[in-house]
Amino acid sequence: MYRIAVIPGDGTGTEVVREGMKALSKIHDLFGIDFEFTQFDFGGARYLKTGKTIDDEDIETLKRFNAIYLGAVGHPKVQPGILEKGILLKLRFALDQYINLRPVKLYPNVPTPLADKGPDDIDFVVVRENTEGLYCGAGGFLKKGTPDEVAIQEMINTRKGVERCIRYAFEYTRLRNKKKKLTLCAKTNVLTYAHDLWDRAFREVSREYPDIDADYAHVDATTMWMIKNPEWFDVVVTTNMFGDIITDLGAMIQGGMGVAAGGNINPEGVSMFEPIGGSAPKYEGKNQINPIAAILAAQMMLEFLGEREASRALENAVVSTLKRLKSLSAGKMGFTTQEVGDLVAEAIAD
Ligand code: IPM
Ligand code: MN
Repeated sequence: MYRIAVIPGDGTGTEVVREGMKALSKIHDLFGIDFEFTQFDFGGARYLKTGKTIDDEDIETLKRFNAIYLGAVGHPKVQPGILEKGILLKLRFALDQYINLRPVKLYPNVPTPLADKGPDDIDFVVVRENTEGLYCGAGGFLKKGTPDEVAIQEMINTRKGVERCIRYAFEYTRLRNKKKKLTLCAKTNVLTYAHDLWDRAFREVSREYPDIDADYAHVDATTMWMIKNPEWFDVVVTTNMFGDIITDLGAMIQGGMGVAAGGNINPEGVSMFEPIGGSAPKYEGKNQINPIAAILAAQMMLEFLGEREASRALENAVVSTLKRLKSLSAGKMGFTTQEVGDLVAEAIAD
C-alpha cells in the first residue's frame, strides 16, 4: 500500500491531478496496487485566507508518505515569489529532493516545432540539481530603493551537493542503458570557480563509470544543440538554474507544457512528482487543460515506486491516447480534460 500525499495546488492543478488519480485508480483495478490518497490544500487560495504557505509541521507530516503528487503552484493574486518559495521550493529543500528529473521525450504522433526531427531524435533526460545554486535564496540588498542600491544573489555550490547529483546522473545513465552518454551542461569558461567545482567532480566521478561516455557542453551551446541535434543527448546533468531554463526549452521540443512532467527526487526520502507547466490560471475550471503531463507525472511516480509494469502500462495508454488528440494545447484537444483522462484510463491494459 502506497500512501500518497496529493497537493492539487492552484489554478488547473486540481483538474489535472484528478485525471492522474483516475489513471492510478485504474492501475489499482488492473494491477492490484493499493494507493491511499491524502489531500492537502497548500496553495494560493489557502495563503490568501490564512497567510500560511507550508511550515515545518507540515513537512513532518509529509515525511510520512511514500510520495507526493503535486498539481501546480502559482496564483495571480499572490505576489511572485511567495508561493514559489513558501511552497514549491520549501518542499524541494526541506525534503532534500536534490534531483529534478525531467525527461524530454517526443512521443509518436506529437507535433514538435523541430523540422525533420522525430521520436528517435528527441529522447533524453535532464538531471537538474534541485537544492542549491542560484535557488538558495542567499543574498540581500544594501541601500535598497536608493540610487546606490546593491543587490546580491549568491550561487551556492557545495562539493557534497554537486557530487551527489553527478553520481545520481551517472547511475541513471547506466540504468537507462541507451546511448550511455552523460553530458555535463555548465559554463566553465565564465563561472571559473563554481563550475570548476562541477567540472572536477564530474571528471572524478566519471572514472568510476568507464562504461559511460562523459561529455561536456556549455549551456549556451546546449540550447543550440537541443534544437539542431537533440539526438546527441542521452542524459544531461546540470545546475538548478540552467536546468530550469533548458527544461522549458525541452518541454517545447517534446510537444509543449501539456506533456512535460518531472520528478523531484530524494532517493533516500520522500519524492514529489508534478507536471512542469504551472497553474495556467486562464484555464482554471474550464475543463480544457491538457492533463497528460500530470498523468505522466503519475507514471514517473509509479516507476519511482518500483512498479515497472504498471508504469509501462500507463505510458502505453498515454501513447495511444495521444494519437487521438487533435492538438495538445488547452481548449484545442478535441476533448475535455476529463475526457482525455477517461481515454487514458480506458486504454490502460495489463
Ligand atoms: C519549475 C518552476 C519553478 C522553478 C518555479 C515555479 C519556482 O519554474 O519547476 O521549473 O524555477 O524551479
Ligand atoms: Mn521552470
